[in-house]
Amino acid sequence: MKKTQAKTILSAKDISKTFISPEGKPFTVLDNINLELHEGEIVALLGRSGSGKSTLLRTLLGLVEPSAGEVRYRDQRVRGPMPGMALVFQSFALFPWLTVQQNVELGLEAMGVPAAERRPRALQAIDLIGLDGFESAFPKELSGGMRQRVGFARALVTNPDILFMDEPFSALDVLTSETLRSELLELWMEQKIPTKAILIVTHNIEEAALMADRILILSANPGRVRAEIAVPCPRLNDRDHPAFKELVEQIYRIMTTPVATPLTSPAVPAEPRSIGYRLPAATIEALEGLIDRVASGPDYGREDLPRLAAEMQLEIDDLFPLADATELLKLAVVKEGDIQLTAQGRLFAEGDTEARKRLFAVLLSEQVPLVAHIVRVLETRPGGRAPEDRFLRELEDYMSTEDANAVLATAIDWGRYAELFEYDYNAGILSREIAIPAA
Ligand SMILES: Nc1ncnc2c1ncn2[C@@H]1O[C@H](COP(=O)(O)OP(=O)(O)OP(=O)(O)O)[C@@H](O)[C@H]1O
Ligand SMILES: [Mg+2]
Repeated sequence: MKKTQAKTILSAKDISKTFISPEGKPFTVLDNINLELHEGEIVALLGRSGSGKSTLLRTLLGLVEPSAGEVRYRDQRVRGPMPGMALVFQSFALFPWLTVQQNVELGLEAMGVPAAERRPRALQAIDLIGLDGFESAFPKELSGGMRQRVGFARALVTNPDILFMDEPFSALDVLTSETLRSELLELWMEQKIPTKAILIVTHNIEEAALMADRILILSANPGRVRAEIAVPCPRLNDRDHPAFKELVEQIYRIMTTPVATPLTSPAVPAEPRSIGYRLPAATIEALEGLIDRVASGPDYGREDLPRLAAEMQLEIDDLFPLADATELLKLAVVKEGDIQLTAQGRLFAEGDTEARKRLFAVLLSEQVPLVAHIVRVLETRPGGRAPEDRFLRELEDYMSTEDANAVLATAIDWGRYAELFEYDYNAGILSREIAIPAA
């Protein structure tokens, strides 16, 4: 599909987006993004959770106004939603009280298409997407896969020039998403839809590699395009092909290499040595599982991340925080798509529960300022107790309330495991009193 001199349909120039947190602090989600969409290509936008993929997509569609920069669609400045661009949502976003047909017609109603014209066009789209016979059904009568077909029909009925998809398959089971994906690709390749370009947001590396001509990788905090990969053989549809495997490896290598550029957002601390460092959301249970698996592998203490992800059925949103956590705690080193246990990581793997907890306590005190800070505060408090809100408020100086909650939850999970403190979930109280096991 890749042509030289392909016509540019959409361009984003120097797009930035800054939100104001509920506490009134600005935080930059998108930082100086430049990209183009050309006629005849499928572009995949990959990034970890929270990197700003949905925000970028909504900005391109004119649903979110950028704080700086501009989006142009076929030489018009995008200032709001416009015909020619349609979006398929992850959550399907169907109206439960409307039938399939009515839900599909909505796409046309929004464009001001007269009622008499809507019906035949909706029926045609319904037919095209394999929903024939379900016109009068309500969403609740349909399976997840069928509901997403309605989502596709509602977008395709408008004959979009550009089709945007925000993780359209991620709410579906593996088999259903594979089916729907290959059907969509068939419509595209056989030109049964007039769509000239597709932009799909995904956090699934294989999905990007299977679908796209070009892959953009977004970094997080703030979101930037950190890499662009032209897929050498697009839509191979063979996961065992060496070229496919190499592509997947390449993406993992990029996504596991830390970004060395300085951060511009004042709301985001870069220093792991700060209490405001965003601890990766990794539970102890998952951490132990990963370390045990790496330690017991054939290549003692070293593993290929793509292979691990496939074997443990981990999505990148699960795997990367885990890998990040092992690095932060100096249990492993992640480099070029491989994870390798450090001496401490091996010690952890070989230890019994008690030894693991002791080692973890030391690592936390050394490597995780937030946990060390909590311990210090509890030590100075009468009775060794403090409400979690106290720490949440501190974290909110660095991040949104939502992120602060997630980071504190991780710190509490880790600190409890290491028996550095206790946590009363119902009261929201942290305390130094470690329960003494009954004799
Ligand atoms: N309207 C908004 N107001 C304030 N903050 C927002 C808003 N929309 C998004 N954010 C924040 O911007 C950041 C990026 O969010 P976004 O949904 O774009 O990420 P994403 O890459 O799509 O994540 P995911 O993979 O989880 O879907 C998050 O921290 C989110 O909380
Ligand atoms: Mg999203």
